[in-house]
Amino acid sequence: MPLSPSTGAQYARILGIGAAIPSRVVDNEEMCTYIDSSDEWIQQRTGIVERRWVAEGETVESLSLDAARQAIDRAGLAGADIDAVIVSTVSHMLQTPSLAAHIAAELGTDGAAAYDISAACAGFCYGLAQADALVRSGAATHVVVIGAETLSRITDLSDRSTAFLFADGAGAAVVGPSDTPAMGPVVWGSDGDQYDVINMTKPWPEALQAGENSNIFMEGRAVFRWATGFIASAAQECLDAAGVTAEELDVFIPHQANNRITDSMLRHLTLPDTVKVARTIKHYGNNSAASIPIAIDAMLASGEAKSGDLALIIGFGAGLVYAGQVVQLP
Ligand code: UT7
Repeated sequence: MPLSPSTGAQYARILGIGAAIPSRVVDNEEMCTYIDSSDEWIQQRTGIVERRWVAEGETVESLSLDAARQAIDRAGLAGADIDAVIVSTVSHMLQTPSLAAHIAAELGTDGAAAYDISAACAGFCYGLAQADALVRSGAATHVVVIGAETLSRITDLSDRSTAFLFADGAGAAVVGPSDTPAMGPVVWGSDGDQYDVINMTKPWPEALQAGENSNIFMEGRAVFRWATGFIASAAQECLDAAGVTAEELDVFIPHQANNRITDSMLRHLTLPDTVKVARTIKHYGNNSAASIPIAIDAMLASGEAKSGDLALIIGFGAGLVYAGQVVQLP
């Protein structure tokens, strides 16, 4: 008996973007009550003036839902139109079931496919690559991709090398069919030789037995070197793979890890001054998988970026892993 393969749309695009920003503002002055540091050092080394943490009642679930509902609404769709939900997070505290299955039910999807991915700060771009493939293969028509983190719950507030950096938030995109090309090929990969450069202090069972939390630790300098060298070249590969020149690009949205990393990438890419560059780390901190969709949302809201603009996005983080692509903004 012949087998019928799935067939999908010729192209995919981002149809809507949403973001959820936690309400608690933690400025550098408050941060310096937890660690031996200064507002001047934090601003010079990272560009962060303040970050957002979840307040009472806000969770990785509530942020994910708020961001996804906004993205679906802006795409002109309803929950029932969504047939796949992908959540990228390292902050969901249950190994199973997935956060995505819960979100799919809360969104009112009709039993959408749902799964989480663990790709740290590259997670949103990993999710977009999957959504693009699902739509073009016919496995799904409308996919919600969510990047959501509550890193404040897994950060040691006495750790001088991470406490000032990490933050909370969620962003979401709806990906669906398109008549014209609007998402470039993903450029992605991993470097597992650097597995321990960003890791957790202990597996949870050991931490709990010791009466401790398991927190993120990071060899900041090693990540910084990798990001300013290898990842800067990968960003150029994203442009090349999409056939887009620096002059044709409108917006550059790297993962908001550190403004100095962004500056270094800009020098490598030699982008024209007309390209708008995301700097949302200043007020939101480094919120991992959420940083890119939050930056897209903020730049569209402020008018810095506009619908139809070509944006280069690239995420990188624990694994080490990375992913990037050129996308047309909704
Ligand atoms: O999002 C996931 C991926 N993560 C990243 O991309 C993070 C990449 N790494 C970074 O962004 C940077 O490495 C950090 C912002 C984390 C740290 O900045 P750095 O410039 O690499 O600092 P460092 O660790 O090299 O330390 C420089 C100096 C040291 O003093 P000496 O030895 O030069 O006298 C540290 O003791 O700064 C000192 N220092 C601090 N001073 C004030 C380290 N942490 C602090 C602090 N406050 N919190």
